[in-house]
Amino acid sequence: MTNYHIGVIGGDGIGPEVAREGLKVLSAVADIDGFTYDTVEYPYSGEYYLKTKELVPPHMLDEWRALDAVFLGAIGHPDVEVGLVEASVILGLRVGLDLYINLRPIKLYAEHLCPLKDKKPEDVDLTVVRENTEGIYSQVGGNFKKGSPDEIATVTGIWTRKGCERAIRYAFELARQRAAMRDAGRNPRVTLVDKANAIRPQELWTRTFAEVAKEYPEVETDHAYVDACCMWLIKNPEWFDVIVTTNLFGDIITDVGAMIQGGMGIAASANIHPGKNGMFEPIHGSAPKYTGQNVANPLGAIAAAGMMCDFLGQKQAAQRIENAIAMLLGSKRIPSVDARSGLSTTQIGDMVVKEIREQVSRDT
Ligand code: IPM
Ligand code: MG
Repeated sequence: MTNYHIGVIGGDGIGPEVAREGLKVLSAVADIDGFTYDTVEYPYSGEYYLKTKELVPPHMLDEWRALDAVFLGAIGHPDVEVGLVEASVILGLRVGLDLYINLRPIKLYAEHLCPLKDKKPEDVDLTVVRENTEGIYSQVGGNFKKGSPDEIATVTGIWTRKGCERAIRYAFELARQRAAMRDAGRNPRVTLVDKANAIRPQELWTRTFAEVAKEYPEVETDHAYVDACCMWLIKNPEWFDVIVTTNLFGDIITDVGAMIQGGMGIAASANIHPGKNGMFEPIHGSAPKYTGQNVANPLGAIAAAGMMCDFLGQKQAAQRIENAIAMLLGSKRIPSVDARSGLSTTQIGDMVVKEIREQVSRDT
């Protein structure tokens, strides 16, 4: 029987609560699909930092690299310097483990969840491939003459040929796979999103995209500047299949994406180095105002647990989780994906487990 080693970072605010439900669902599918895992919990968070002044120590990356996956709730505490713990834990993992792909599916499970007029589930089904280690997140820069009237703040946007090529290639492979999984009638398409008209060095992405595209003649190519992409995502989300983009733009457009799939409460992400390491997290933050109230919607974390199963090779388990979420939202048994669904965090976790078990007994 396959056994996986999974690191768990509950983090701040609602993070530990939603992560617990993700793990509850993981335990159910492991039981059904016949795999086992052990978990090691790590305390790193804003709250832990306030108590101990400790961030992630450098040797921790070696420990995390040896795991099969890391599962994360959320990081961010209102009393800690902005970005300090996020940089240490989230960006530390992404860069430290070279998790160069941030995969963010945007899928509408039920029409009533979509704030856009007349858009149906078949109109909102795309995946964003966000380059996850470079760009303006490089941290190369700083403040000079800090606090004086002459202060200068700089950060260098770094895009490498290697970095953009591996993200673009992943996007084309994904478009191919997605097309193979769905009914004919919709061609695979990859859209490059950049801002090369204003940020001229991003022309590296334009050129690399054109070169890689030649290897995938059956995949349609498209391009949008990031500002226009935000507009098209609202106006015509059905145009998109796979989007590939830089780190910051991927961050921004996937919040738009989360809203058109119903809200931040359902959006999940996989930070991966294919074939090596992965970190899985909901894309929402720590939502301090809902901490400890058992009201946060854990579907984002549960969907992230599904993406973790997929990465670990447990495809059937991943599919079960996705089907259960789709059924519960489609039937309105879970009526919304925000904190006002009328259902508690733990209740939603239990409902997903029950739905998975019922699907198994229906199928057998
Ligand atoms: C995300 C988040 C992070 C990011 C923050 C918390 C550093 O917004 O994962 O989308 O900007 O990548
Ligand atoms: Mg974000």
